[in-house]
Amino acid sequence: MSQSAPADKPGPHRVELLGGYQYSWCTCGLSKYQPFCDGSHTMAPPGAKPIVFIQEKDQTVSMCGCKRTGTRPFCDGSHNQQA
Ligand code: FES
Repeated sequence: MSQSAPADKPGPHRVELLGGYQYSWCTCGLSKYQPFCDGSHTMAPPGAKPIVFIQEKDQTVSMCGCKRTGTRPFCDGSHNQQA
């Protein structure tokens, strides 16, 4: 796994996801549309690509903004730990 650059907002992003929709979570930290991918990973080191997933149901979730979570793409509290 490659080391990801932290995004502008180092904490979680609280977002509403719609069931049945596909989302792409930014792993490189370069997207201007955090926490989602905007295609900026093409400017990141080789190997950086988004995590693509289908949301099962309508749900408000906390998506990781620091890119250090162990439960990608969701926040696991790792942003509270020193780097
Ligand atoms: S924002 Fe990354 S673990 Fe919470």
